[in-house]
Amino acid sequence: MRDRIVSELAKNNTVLTPEAMEYLEELEEPSKVIEELTEKEDKLPFPVCKETISCFVDDVLKDVEEKSPGSDRKDRDPREAIEVLKDISGNSTCTGGIDDFSKYFESRFKTLRSIIRERREGKKARPINRIARRAGEASTICMVRDIHSTSNGNKVLTLEDKSGEIRGFISSDSEAYTKNILEDEVILAKGEMWENNGDFEDTFAIEEIKRPDVPKLNDKAKPDFSGRIAFLGDIHVGSSAFLKDRWDDFTSWINSDEAENIRYLIIPGDLIDGIGIFPNQEEELDIIDIHEQYREAARLFKAIRDDLTIITIPGNHDIVRNAEPQPRLPEEIREMFPENVLFFGNPSLIELEGVKILMYHGNSINDLSDMLPQVTQESPITAQREMLKRRHLVPVYGKKTSIAPEEKDHLAIEEVPDIFVTGHIHRCAVDDYHGTVLVNASSWQTQTEYQKMRDIHPEPAKVTILDPKTNKVSIREFN
Ligand SMILES: [Fe+2]
Repeated sequence: MRDRIVSELAKNNTVLTPEAMEYLEELEEPSKVIEELTEKEDKLPFPVCKETISCFVDDVLKDVEEKSPGSDRKDRDPREAIEVLKDISGNSTCTGGIDDFSKYFESRFKTLRSIIRERREGKKARPINRIARRAGEASTICMVRDIHSTSNGNKVLTLEDKSGEIRGFISSDSEAYTKNILEDEVILAKGEMWENNGDFEDTFAIEEIKRPDVPKLNDKAKPDFSGRIAFLGDIHVGSSAFLKDRWDDFTSWINSDEAENIRYLIIPGDLIDGIGIFPNQEEELDIIDIHEQYREAARLFKAIRDDLTIITIPGNHDIVRNAEPQPRLPEEIREMFPENVLFFGNPSLIELEGVKILMYHGNSINDLSDMLPQVTQESPITAQREMLKRRHLVPVYGKKTSIAPEEKDHLAIEEVPDIFVTGHIHRCAVDDYHGTVLVNASSWQTQTEYQKMRDIHPEPAKVTILDPKTNKVSIREFN
């Protein structure tokens, strides 16, 4: 199979990256995917990367969905109270071409720059080519392309915008140093263009850094919201560590009078455990067929009262492309579920009776905990806070979270949500950041062997219940 793929691509003067080959091998008919790809595209990029393949597969799936009869069954929102503000599903522009990434980063830069410009300090900022012309005080809104530490502990950065690039310098004793700047961040940098004994040096000494951030809202208008929203995530149906008994307890409770004021249930991804997500996963599965896993999840959802609206997005264990933003689950899966289950992409921003909810599975929490000392896996809320400060769900490109280069940056947090929910880490936590409620939804899977190996301690079988009118929260535990 590998040989066939390699020779087919060689005929088209290109090769696959090892990552793309690995991804391809997990697909059902890898050779067919490559045949269709070479047939459809006039010119393939060199090399063909994983994103190219995943975007192509996604587009093919989308085509199939659009052509299949009755596919609008779940396209209409059965609940008029829900408005979709942002969702990649059906709107993917990613073609996998080389240009896509430069367009993507341009969109990221423009989006975040316009947020910074709204800040008072942002108005004085000048483009890089202007500040680079003379010595003295300056400020600019720029993207951080790379960061290096010097032997004496300072930092040297490459900063860029559309007008050019400049070398930035952050001294270890400056306030800017404490900000833990990451590559690809868009910031407002204030400082001084250096002059050295009368010689103009092409270095910008950064003293202060401002992020796009979220403004503090003290007197937020209370929404006219009548019921409660419940959150739980990462159900992992199919895994032998899925807590079936506790799920049944949850079902009895959510169907009881005690929970009748809960009108919505939000599940930020990983409905099922999937297949081939981590090494030797099959040894930890009760259901080894991915469609069977979804069928079982649908069966569990059918037992829940149908006047509860269940809102879901995919996670890294679900069946859609791995690169973010991920579209909602495909039609063949959606149609297994009852009408009260709604499917959106990862991430999505929706408005529920006037309450804006940003839903994101949370893959990048791992990346942020690797890079930032203030972020830990045990406390995913700390990562959510860093995302809001940077107004981006995946602040750094090129780590474990793969990004599909869409023309528009769907991962930027353009609008400030009232509620920001993630999952993925299998912890249960709630907090507040500048008036946005942060929720990390608990999971329904106990510690797996894989998690034991990686020292991950889940807090399963907990449901977070929020009253959006008062922001009062309670957590119900099932054990
Ligand atoms: Fe998960």
